[in-house]
Amino acid sequence: MSSAKEILKWSLTLGREPQTFLGARWVRWALDRAPASKKRLWAFRLLSLSPHYFLDRDWAENRSIPESEYFEKASAEWLASRETYFNAVLEERLSDARTVLDYGCGPGFLAVILAKRFDRVQALDISSGALECARVLNSADNLEYVLADAEGIASIADASVDAIVSLAVVQHLSREVYEKMLEVCHRKLKSGGRLALHVQLNEGDWKTEDTWKEDRSVKGKLKYNYGLHNFGRPESEHLAMANAAGLVEVKVDPLSPLFPNGFEDIGEQHLLTAVKP
Ligand SMILES: C[S@@+](CC[C@H](N)C(=O)[O-])C[C@H]1O[C@@H](n2cnc3c(N)ncnc32)[C@H](O)[C@@H]1O
Repeated sequence: MSSAKEILKWSLTLGREPQTFLGARWVRWALDRAPASKKRLWAFRLLSLSPHYFLDRDWAENRSIPESEYFEKASAEWLASRETYFNAVLEERLSDARTVLDYGCGPGFLAVILAKRFDRVQALDISSGALECARVLNSADNLEYVLADAEGIASIADASVDAIVSLAVVQHLSREVYEKMLEVCHRKLKSGGRLALHVQLNEGDWKTEDTWKEDRSVKGKLKYNYGLHNFGRPESEHLAMANAAGLVEVKVDPLSPLFPNGFEDIGEQHLLTAVKP
């Protein structure tokens, strides 16, 4: 599919805030009206309209594999990937946590794994459509999906969670939004609570936010405006921002020692850990 067609497809799903692919009202409307027996298929179809979720309906169409077979296979792989991440990165670090918040949960493949291990999981996302899909695809009795708007964030009690995790989210956030996320994390963590954010440094192909903004080409501006950027940041910037939010014991470590055989592109990236004093 040409990138112009892709950008048009993605932009039709955008809500008001940056990064709200599937945030447009019609997305929830469509899923609400899908018959119960087709909701799962429709949730996958809707997710395939966003660049965030790596499901490509054209892939199935072009290869004449049945659509639902393709989606189920992709979903099983996604779940396995999040389980691998949990086992290698989070399990030991969060061993004494009981309540966990997944920040930027998307369709909930990590959140549903967290729900098997912890007493209570809250999963926040800025996209109401992604959350509706998560409720269809990845629900559990002890798992609550919450919209990351002012009301949703206020519904999570301050100083109530033992740990906050996030995977594949920080790279999409502008400095302003990342600052807000860190402030929310500080506020929602209990004293002694732990933060574990998957982050990217400005190395290799990872450009900083300023470099993205300097790209005045039409493609560069479109990508920036439609939130298709992936920002890398100097380690010093991650550390300074988390410290400024009031977190302590802030560290940024490479994930590579945890994945000696590699793990997607995530295995080459980093983990920011911190504690709420
Ligand atoms: C690439 S997806 C990752 C989803 C999930 N964490 C995973 O790894 O499967 C990035 C997610 O971040 C969410 N997001 C972006 N900005 C956000 C914000 N300010 N607050 C909460 N979620 C946000 C997007 O809606 C999207 O679902």
